[in-house]
Amino acid sequence: MAFNLPEFLNQPLSIGNRTIPGRLVLAPLSKLGNVAFRELLAGYGGFGLMFSEMSSSRAVQHGTSNTIAGFMWRPKELEHLVCQLFGDDPDTMGRAARQVEKAGFFGVDINFGCSVASICRHGCGAELLKTPDLAVKIVAAIRRQVALPVFVKFRTGWQDDPQPAVDLARRFEDAGADALTFHPRVAPDRRTRPPKWAYIARVKEAVSIPLFGNGNVFSADDCRTMLNTTGCNGVALGRLAIARPWIFAQWTRGIAPDRDIYKTCALEMIDLLEKHFEPALAMRRLNRFFAYYASNFKFGHTFYARICKAQTPEDARQVVLDFYREAPETVTIPKITLLR
Ligand SMILES: Cc1cc2nc3c(=O)[nH]c(=O)nc-3n(C[C@H](O)[C@H](O)[C@H](O)COP(=O)(O)O)c2cc1C
Repeated sequence: MAFNLPEFLNQPLSIGNRTIPGRLVLAPLSKLGNVAFRELLAGYGGFGLMFSEMSSSRAVQHGTSNTIAGFMWRPKELEHLVCQLFGDDPDTMGRAARQVEKAGFFGVDINFGCSVASICRHGCGAELLKTPDLAVKIVAAIRRQVALPVFVKFRTGWQDDPQPAVDLARRFEDAGADALTFHPRVAPDRRTRPPKWAYIARVKEAVSIPLFGNGNVFSADDCRTMLNTTGCNGVALGRLAIARPWIFAQWTRGIAPDRDIYKTCALEMIDLLEKHFEPALAMRRLNRFFAYYASNFKFGHTFYARICKAQTPEDARQVVLDFYREAPETVTIPKITLLR
């Protein structure tokens, strides 16, 4: 029987003591999956859960200040939102997780996947995959502090061998993790080579908690293939979600994107960035978002060059309106692989 993607994605999934309504989730994306973007995404719907951008546990442990980059939310989204933390100290991570719980998030996610130098240099993110005992200690410390679902996001590790990730997945489960997101790439690879989805199947076989597969899902066929070939319980979408925030609704509810959706999405995002951020930050986030958005168009690079020159949200709106007057041609699969 043919695999019915919407039917699968719309199945609820139990995670710890909670249930999510669907299996397609927004992956954590620093500087992209911000509160403005998530409000845009919430307007389309279709996701089972959203992961926040990563926040430093050192900053978050002191309280629920809504000024920490990444640690910003709308109260309405908390029931669908998991807060991602990074850090290298189990106690600090535990204290930060308590703040996450106090704020009312759905869950807390631990970042063992980020391989950028600024994070790894401080012993955080994927660097912790080099010290599995410490990584497991962090999971256990968080588990002791909170009752809400605990998630772990991790990668293959630092060598192209799935076995350490398989072993770690088991240990994360034993330490109290309720769900995992696995991105099957080695840590130094910043998305240049394709992820090895076969490793997702290996990790899935090793654990009994839900596993979200992640990495290079750019079409409904990719999503179907990942689910079919790996047995993962759900899929975490990263870059495609930014380029096409309606993709969750498209794949789970069958909404058909038309020319209008591209235009209104761009204009709405500008409004939301202006609503949530002070002007300079709004423009920086706007540039990041539109790099992904521009990948939807045959001549997206020209559009992106124009929007980068915008000094204000009003300039950006004008660039969007002018672009749509030219009836831009969209592409089937966005060229986000070109983004580094
Ligand atoms: C710009 C950017 C920022 C990211 N930020 C985070 C992050 O804060 N935390 C995290 O765990 N992963 C982060 N990732 C990794 C993504 O969550 C995801 O694993 C990766 O993009 C592969 O999925 P995709 O092919 O669907 O984009 C980031 C990726 C990108 C491109």
